[in-house]
Amino acid sequence: MPDASRNSTARVLPDLMILPERVLSGPGKLAELPAEAHRFGSRGLLVHGRAFGDREAALLANAPARFAASVFRHRGGEPTLDQVDELRAAIRETQAEWVAAVGGGSVIDLAKAAALLVRAAQPAQAYQDGAPVESDGLPFLAVPTTAGTGSEATINTVLTNTRTGAKKSIRDPRMMARVVILDPQLLATCPPAVIAASGLDALTQAVEAYTSRGATPFSDGLALQGLRLVAGHLEAVYRDAQAAETGGLLAGSFITGVALSFARLGVVHGLAHPLGSLYHVPHGLVCAVCLPHAIAFNRDAMGAKYDALSAAVGLDLLDAVAGLNARLGLRSPFAGQAVRSRETLIAETLASGSTKSNPRPVTRADVEWFLDRLFALGPT
Ligand SMILES: [Fe+2]
Repeated sequence: MPDASRNSTARVLPDLMILPERVLSGPGKLAELPAEAHRFGSRGLLVHGRAFGDREAALLANAPARFAASVFRHRGGEPTLDQVDELRAAIRETQAEWVAAVGGGSVIDLAKAAALLVRAAQPAQAYQDGAPVESDGLPFLAVPTTAGTGSEATINTVLTNTRTGAKKSIRDPRMMARVVILDPQLLATCPPAVIAASGLDALTQAVEAYTSRGATPFSDGLALQGLRLVAGHLEAVYRDAQAAETGGLLAGSFITGVALSFARLGVVHGLAHPLGSLYHVPHGLVCAVCLPHAIAFNRDAMGAKYDALSAAVGLDLLDAVAGLNARLGLRSPFAGQAVRSRETLIAETLASGSTKSNPRPVTRADVEWFLDRLFALGPT
């Protein structure tokens, strides 16, 4: 029988590959943001979060190229549809020709959504509900200040509807950043709890991208390399955010973002969106506490990939994740609580595209199994 994989690029590569045009990497590279942005026009809008301080402002002010940008400060928390609409108005008001985000995953998701939707006619909710985006957006530049979400490498943004509590993605190839700057010095002021939770988000994404139904040999190579880098550098950066390992962690997060952008994810991310928005728990922490259960659930369906993941982290995968969670102080925020809105949690988990990419099919009874374990008293 002919081996179709030998002639079919579709078996090796994703159907469509979208990557940033330019990725600059290294300590102090933030200083190159003005020159990179200037290629898209002289007026821009810089979106940043609380981590953006005097040091970063001085670095940009002293950069060789002039930085003629207005500034929009994200108030914090995971981004909402209302905040996207507010930022769209600010972009139009300042007549910005480009949008740059310097911040964590929330800041990057907020800015990339607003950059895409700036000329679109309807409120952001319409596009989250599935309306096609009828106009192109502005060039978008992403500079992460945390290592974990990989948002700087993806074509989707996760937004919360504060009226319904629903947390859903908008996915559009035009959201890919034109320029990504990976500057490990920007992690220097990142609190240990954020490094831990963000790191477990990246680690979960690497495991889920590698075992997803959408995985290809192309994404497999990236996901395994991302996992090696994240697992190998996370604890050192948790202990000291100025450690030399910061660059490896940031690179691992970015590479994992590229992998998931092509391969999609799994049931942890299906559970994480409704659990995170209903219980107001940071995304990375939800991933961290769901991941051990998902590994146990998927173990047989992973097949030989389980062994490859274990080899990448240097010991049995489940033991490695449980050990990391314990050493990084990541404990279940759900343990011992009653399950609120059980039907909503089940329905949204089953409807999620991430759940549909999980290597083992997920039924209603399976979601109940996850909830029973997450909310049980005792060790997770
Ligand atoms: Fe995630």
